Amino acid sequence: MTELSKEHIVNAHRAIGVIDSGVGGLTVVRELSRKLPRESIIYFGDTARMPYGPRSYEEVRGFVLQMIEFLQHQEIKMVVIACNSATAAGLSHYKQACNLPILGVIEPGVRAALAASRSGRIGVIGTVGTISSSEYEKALKKKNGNLHLASKACPLFVLLVENNLVDTPEARTVAHEYLDSLVNEGIDSLILGCTHYPLMSGLIQEVVGPSIKLINSAEEIATEVEEILSANRMVNPLESEEPRYRFFVSGSPGPFEEVGAKLLRRDIRAYQVALV
Ligand code: DGL
Repeated sequence: MTELSKEHIVNAHRAIGVIDSGVGGLTVVRELSRKLPRESIIYFGDTARMPYGPRSYEEVRGFVLQMIEFLQHQEIKMVVIACNSATAAGLSHYKQACNLPILGVIEPGVRAALAASRSGRIGVIGTVGTISSSEYEKALKKKNGNLHLASKACPLFVLLVENNLVDTPEARTVAHEYLDSLVNEGIDSLILGCTHYPLMSGLIQEVVGPSIKLINSAEEIATEVEEILSANRMVNPLESEEPRYRFFVSGSPGPFEEVGAKLLRRDIRAYQVALV
């Protein structure tokens, strides 16, 4: 839990800042809007530089710090790093660089998986960056050393989602390629360790079968955001106020708006901002 400070308290009317490499963090926005309908959100998707998965941790950290700096000029009260690759690359660096509460996505995912798994055999899928960091394994083992964990990097999934290609035969072939070996490990739950993956959870569920529970950490993240806002007395007190949603992207807004509108079930307008 992030500590309380006086400057947090006066900023309750401000927005929640949400960051991702692209559209994936919108799966977290969807859950935040369900759970915290009065809160405004300012989103940044670094679409010009995605995917983050294959990049070095140092490079990803630099990009994330740029987005945090941009959002800090937009009247925000906390930051959600709605990207596993960015969280794995260095959550502690972002916390050091920013005086607002910051939440990553790995710990909430771990909590959700531990609550869901009955057998203790848990799978994790994510980008190359997230899986090679072993952050999920470390966090899960810390809570329970007897867990059986199986992980797999699924780098093409992000590109399928960003390019709206989830409903294609090629996507199914790729999904089998990545997931069949995990199913053979006898897991009972599978952490979607990339915020893009809930956008293809229908296909993933079909491929792994109904007995494996998919863990989307978005719900747990929204719960933790609520807890952080309450603990810091930063819940928006203005009941009559309509929440404002603003979306910024570093690349072309078109594809982001298209996938985003489908996910959030309303038209969205994104503004392009060059980060250099
Ligand atoms: N949504 C991301 C994640 O959770 C980003 C994937 C990427 O850009 O490679 O890891």
